[in-house]
Amino acid sequence: MLAIIGGTGLTQLANLEITHRQVIRSPFGEPSGAITFGRLRQHEVMFIARHGYGHTIPPHEVNYRANLWALHEQGAKRVISVAAVGGIRADLSPGTIVLPDQIIDYTSGRSFTYFDGRESPVTHIDFTQPYSQKLRQQILQAAKLAKVQCLDGGVYAVTQGPRLETAAEINRLERDGADMVGMTGMPEASLAKELGLDYAAIAVVVNHAAGRGSSRNGVHLETISAVAQPAMANVRSILECVVESDDN
Ligand code: HPA
Repeated sequence: MLAIIGGTGLTQLANLEITHRQVIRSPFGEPSGAITFGRLRQHEVMFIARHGYGHTIPPHEVNYRANLWALHEQGAKRVISVAAVGGIRADLSPGTIVLPDQIIDYTSGRSFTYFDGRESPVTHIDFTQPYSQKLRQQILQAAKLAKVQCLDGGVYAVTQGPRLETAAEINRLERDGADMVGMTGMPEASLAKELGLDYAAIAVVVNHAAGRGSSRNGVHLETISAVAQPAMANVRSILECVVESDDN
């Protein structure tokens, strides 16, 4: 089954016909909320709001391990993560939808692995390609069908938050090769990989990164939701086409 993790601006799927909600307990603590089960264009999907349904859990306090574990335990095979980001690359202006293909992790102090038990053997995962290429292609195809522009590829820098970055930090991220910056891409992506899930992210640019474009003198946080709303409507259209396009 397909699971969707909604981020800022997507705490629920308006087009989801809800069948039930399920509270899941995980060995890693509480997920961000109950998992919502429902049908999207007649296809069964599950949904969880990363920051909680009331948007109260900040990025560094999201229990990524519990969320991914719960989705996996409920039978998710594929996970599409939706995340709001700031645009660093010049063409990533507010309202743009982009499918990142790489990640640089700048987070710290988060619980980032399932493989930390003393009793189990040391386990490494290959993370050369952090996202499922197959799922990325399905999303790109779905975006075409939905007639929604979706840029293919970009490096997602994941910062610790909850504060935004300084202009100098954004310059450094750009020198590192980052195209966009957000706070929730990790450890979500590597945990999904540890569980063997097919995982991809749809990033929605909700502001120019600090010091760039309209954020030259500061990021206007009050404009973010006005940008996110129409863009998330486009994301919903893409998701409908993703579930239509295959066996789910
Ligand atoms: N920086 C970090 N995270 C973000 C941003 C940003 O500019 N916009 C949305 N999430």
